[in-house]
Parts: sequence; structure tokens; C-alpha cells
Amino acid sequence: MLDIRGVATIIFSRSLAVYVVRQCRKPSGWVGRFLLWDMNRRHSGLTDWGNGHQAAQCRLTILDIGCGGGRTLGKLAAMAPEGKVCGVDYSPSCVAASHRKNEAAIRTGRVEIHQGVGLSSPVSGWVVCIMKPLGGTVLTVEEHRAVLTTSGYSEVEVHEERRKGWICVIGQR
Ligand SMILES: C[S@@+](CC[C@H](N)C(=O)[O-])C[C@H]1O[C@@H](n2cnc3c(N)ncnc32)[C@H](O)[C@@H]1O
Repeated sequence: MLDIRGVATIIFSRSLAVYVVRQCRKPSGWVGRFLLWDMNRRHSGLTDWGNGHQAAQCRLTILDIGCGGGRTLGKLAAMAPEGKVCGVDYSPSCVAASHRKNEAAIRTGRVEIHQGVGLSSPVSGWVVCIMKPLGGTVLTVEEHRAVLTTSGYSEVEVHEERRKGWICVIGQR
């Protein structure tokens, strides 16, 4: 039988989990700042893996929807040295963090960052187990492919790193 402390512990753990997931979906304040620092660190491998499927093209114009802590913006700018990268995020904390991370590239006009809302972002991998009950959009590999195909992209390629739950979808338009 659970005593009052057991019940309180469950309620506290659940509230903490909900708070952390909310922060991951829309970082804010000091906790958000820490999460963005951590996202920049943890997502680096995923970004490099995804970018590895795309040939660098000097003059590309690239849109990063959900630019978070902004490290990916710098990596994308490096892939297109004569192009332009635009980052969008709905969280003011993310916009501020991305600005701090890309100050030099913003000054030279290579990177632009705006606060704005994109389509609800799909998630995949272990994140699904936590995000789905909290209302996150979860797409399968085939649904990722369908999003691009029905949006008018052709030659759609899907790459997967199953062990890590990573998906990279590429299309031409
Ligand atoms: C998992 S983080 C990804 C961060 C970054 N792209 C990276 O590679 O580290 C997802 C980001 O998307 C933002 N986001 C989620 N849904 C969004 C939406 N519908 N519109 C704009 N930004 C969104 C969140 O604020 C968060 O910063």
C-alpha cells in the first residue's frame, strides 16, 4: 500500500517529468538556457549525420525550423559558404540563444534568426514514449516520406539510423 509520502513522490515525479518535457518542447528561463546548452552538445552528432547525406552547395538558402540553441545554424552556414541560413523558433529564449551563438555570422549577413511558428514538429525514437502522451506529433518513417511527397517534393530519400532513432528525409523541388 502506498502511504502519503509515496503518493506525494509519484505526484512530484510526474509533475517534474511534465515540466522537463514542456521545457524540451519550448525552452524558457534559466532551465531552458541549460537545456539549450545541452541540446547544442547532444544534437551535434545527429546534425553532422544528417548533413552528411546532403552534398555541400556554396549558394544554398537554408531554413532551420526549430533552431533551438543555434549550433545547427552555424554548421549549416559552413555547408553553404556563399549562401544564407535562416533560423526560426517559437521560443524567445531559443531566438536569444541562437543570436548569441551566431553573432559573427549574423553581422556578416550569413545567418538570420526570427521568432515564428512552424508546423508542429514531428519527433521520433525514444522521445516518442514521453512526447506522445503529452501531445507531441509523432511520425513514422513512411509518414515522414509522405509529408515531403504530398508537399510536392520528388526523388524523396529516407535515411535511418535505427539504433539512435535518427531519420533524415531529403527531397528535390
Ligand atoms: C529538439 S529542439 C531542436 C534544436 C535544434 N534544431 C538542434 O539541432 O539542436 C526543437 C526546437 O524546436 C522548437 N519548436 C518546436 N515546435 C516548434 C514550432 N511549431 N514552431 C517553431 N519552433 C518550434 C523548440 O522551441 C525547440 O527549440
